[in-house]
Amino acid sequence: TYVVTDNCIKCKYMDCVEVCPVDCFYEGENMLVIHPDECIDCGVCEPECPADAIKPDTEPGLEKWLEVNNDYASKWPNITSKKDAPADAKEFDGIEGKFEKYFS
Ligand code: SF4
Ligand code: F3S
Repeated sequence: TYVVTDNCIKCKYMDCVEVCPVDCFYEGENMLVIHPDECIDCGVCEPECPADAIKPDTEPGLEKWLEVNNDYASKWPNITSKKDAPADAKEFDGIEGKFEKYFS
């Protein structure tokens, strides 16, 4: 599966939603997650993310993010079309530790 990681938080560009062939993105207030059981590993979303937040879970060190994606995909509503990104998305691109401060 692919997973959404820290840099999505408060950037939330949602370009990923547009390209996913199986509509497996779920929406929190500040972030999206991928449902690991629904993702078919096509990989098309990874290069679409302007914040470079989407990674294959085969990359080392992503266990925490796999857990976050798995947990919240079943709590948050499905999102199938792109909305406007937050007006201040750019200001949050690349900030460290967003999960601790802004995850929602
Ligand atoms: Fe959707 Fe493909 Fe990205 Fe998985 S890898 S979330 S199926 S676009
Ligand atoms: Fe987040 Fe990137 Fe999608 S910022 S909403 S994973 S396009």
